[in-house]
Amino acid sequence: MKIAFASDHAAVEARGPIVAEIERLGHEVIDFGYDGSESVDYPDFAIRALRAFRQGEVDRVILMCGTGLGMSYVANKVTGVRCARCLDEYDAQLCRTHNNTNCLALRARHQDPALNRRIVEIWLTTPFEGGRHQRRIEKIESVTADFRAPDPTLPGAEDDDMDRTGGCGCGCSCDR
Ligand code: RB5
Repeated sequence: MKIAFASDHAAVEARGPIVAEIERLGHEVIDFGYDGSESVDYPDFAIRALRAFRQGEVDRVILMCGTGLGMSYVANKVTGVRCARCLDEYDAQLCRTHNNTNCLALRARHQDPALNRRIVEIWLTTPFEGGRHQRRIEKIESVTADFRAPDPTLPGAEDDDMDRTGGCGCGCSCDR
């Protein structure tokens, strides 16, 4: 698979072994940074990787920041993206078998690097189970549709041109 990877300054040290692990497992990494010495804003880097996913240039996304949380918040705002912030093997397995996640968020701080590598391996090798879980992930989109519509009472709502129509662009049932 092609994997988009992005991280912020909190993951400058931790990112290399994760990229190497993805490649060791036979995947191609498209690296959207960050590997410099400044303090940066994680949404700026998350969105580059997520845009590549939305444009069909990559199959999945892996994001990394201090906690993994900020990156996951950005990802889960993008239509068609199901992102799990995983702290252990159980999270990694179940977010694939039950939730068919297409985005993984890792924390760089307060985490064993070997455990993060194991999470990546499980996440990249575990298939989706489908069945009742397919129905449930489709409901994520349907039950939230009203709440993703523009709120006409908010300033700027008339300028809202966000694409909410096509899930990931090829229907939300696919593995992209
Ligand atoms: C940066 O200090 C930190 O806030 C960021 O890496 C991330 O953990 C945010 O959720």
